[in-house]
Amino acid sequence: MSEIALGLTYDDVLLVPRRSRVRSRRDVCTRSRFTSAIELEVPIVSANMDTVTTASMAVAMAQLGGIGVVHRFLSIDEEVNEVRRVKRYLTHVVAEPYGVAPQLTLAQARAEAARLDVTGFLVVDPGQRLLGLLTARDMLAGDDGDRVETLMTPFERLVTAAPGIGLDEARRVLTASRIEKLPLVDAQGRVRGLITLRDLAAAERYPLATRDGLGRLRVAAAVGIRGDYLERAEALVAAEADALVLDIAHGHADGAIEAVAELKRRWPEMEVVAGNVATGDGVRDLAGAGADAVKVGIGPGFACTTRLVAGVGVPQFSAVLDCAAAAREVGVPLIADGGIRRAGHVATAVGAGASTVMVGSLFAGRDESPGDVVRRRGQQFKVYRGMASRSAAAARLALEGRGDSLDQYVAEGEEMEFPLRGPVAAIVDELVGGLRSGMSYVDAASIDEFWEKARFVRQTEAGARESHPGSPD
Ligand code: XMP
Repeated sequence: MSEIALGLTYDDVLLVPRRSRVRSRRDVCTRSRFTSAIELEVPIVSANMDTVTTASMAVAMAQLGGIGVVHRFLSIDEEVNEVRRVKRYLTHVVAEPYGVAPQLTLAQARAEAARLDVTGFLVVDPGQRLLGLLTARDMLAGDDGDRVETLMTPFERLVTAAPGIGLDEARRVLTASRIEKLPLVDAQGRVRGLITLRDLAAAERYPLATRDGLGRLRVAAAVGIRGDYLERAEALVAAEADALVLDIAHGHADGAIEAVAELKRRWPEMEVVAGNVATGDGVRDLAGAGADAVKVGIGPGFACTTRLVAGVGVPQFSAVLDCAAAAREVGVPLIADGGIRRAGHVATAVGAGASTVMVGSLFAGRDESPGDVVRRRGQQFKVYRGMASRSAAAARLALEGRGDSLDQYVAEGEEMEFPLRGPVAAIVDELVGGLRSGMSYVDAASIDEFWEKARFVRQTEAGARESHPGSPD
C-alpha cells in the first residue's frame, strides 16, 4: 500500500475555457458512439432500471437521438414485448403489420388492439391476402358481437400501393386520398407492409432519431449473467434488440467476462455492452472478451449505497478518466453510468473521455418513466429505486415465484419518490444544451475534438461554493 491515488468526482473539477472558433452552440456536433457500431446524435442513454426504462422511455430517448436500455427485471416475454413495442413504434414502413381474421368479433378485435397497443388492423385471409382495413373509426361504429368483415373498409375501396413505393410518393398518396394508412400489397394481393401518416409525421418531427437500417427506432435491452440469461439473450436477439447490455454490479468479474465471451460467441453480430467497472483493467478485460462498449460506474448513482455498505467504489470523474485511457487503447466506447445530477456533469463526463452518459435519477418521475403514480398531499410522485434496494430485491423474488426471506439480504440501494415532472424531452434538451455549451467553451466542434482539447482544473470546496449562485441574506 505504497501510494493511495486521489479520487475526484464531477463537482471536484471544471473544464478550463480556451480561445474558441465555435461561434454558436448550434455549430457543435454531439454525434458519438454508444457501441462500436451504433452512433447516437445525442450521447445520452436511459438507465436499465425498473423505474426508468421500459418501452415508453426507450421510444422517447430514441426519438430524441439517444437510446434507452430496457431493464431485465421482467419475465423474458415481458422484456421481449417492451423491445418489440419500440421496434414497431416508429418506422417508415411497418414491415409486418398486425392482421386479423374477418370472422373475429369486434370485442375480440378490440381486445387484440389493446393488447398490441395499436389503433387498427389489416384484415387478412390465411394466405395473408388483404381483405380490408379495420380502423379506429370502424371499431367505434360497431357492437361487441359484430364480425370484423361487416365493419371493415373492404379491399375494393382501399387505397393501396406496391411494396417499393418511395416515402415522398407515399406521403403524396396519403395526403391526396385523405387517408391515414397505406397498405403495401404485392401483385398477388398479399400484405407486404404498411405506411402510416403518423409515422411519416413523426419522422419529420424527430430529425435526430436513432434508427436502424429499416428506419425503426433503436433500443437496447439488459441481461444478467446467471440463470436463464442465454435464453433471455436469444429471445431479445430474435426480437431484434439493437444491443444487449450485460448489467451486473461488479462487471470486472470472471463470471461477467465469461458471459460477454459467450454472448459474442453465440451472436457475433450482436452489439454487447458490459459493465460496470471503475478501472482501466476492467475496461481491457471486458473489451478483450469482445464487449462493444463498457459501462463505468461503481457507486456514483443517486440511489446507490454500495460505497457505504461495501466500502468500494471510485469517484466517478477519476473512474471515467482512468477507464478512458484504456478505452482509447482498445478502441471501445465508454458509457459513464451514474452520478449525473445536472447538465454540467454531462460535459465533464464526456470531456473526461466518455462517449455517452447513462442517466437514472434525472429521468425518474417523468411522464415516460414506468411505475404507478402515487398521490400524497395533493402532489403526484413516482418511485425511483436502486436495483439493489430491498424493494427491488423483493420484486425480483416475486417475479421468480420465490418466497425467500430477505432477512439476510444486504441492500446496496435505496428507494425514494420523485414528484412528477413532465416529459423527459425537457431534461434531455437541458443536458444536451449544457454539453454543447461546454464544448463551445473549449473550442470543440465534435466529440473527438472535445476529448483532445478538454483540460480540467481541480477546485476546492470554496471554489465549488463559488460555482453555485449565492443567496442574498
Ligand atoms: P443516477 O445517478 O443517474 O445513476 O441515478 C443511475 C445508475 O445507478 C446504478 N444503480 C445502482 N448502484 N446500487 C448501486 O450501487 C443500486 O441499487 C443501484 N441501482 C442502480 C446503475 O448503474 C444506474 O444506471
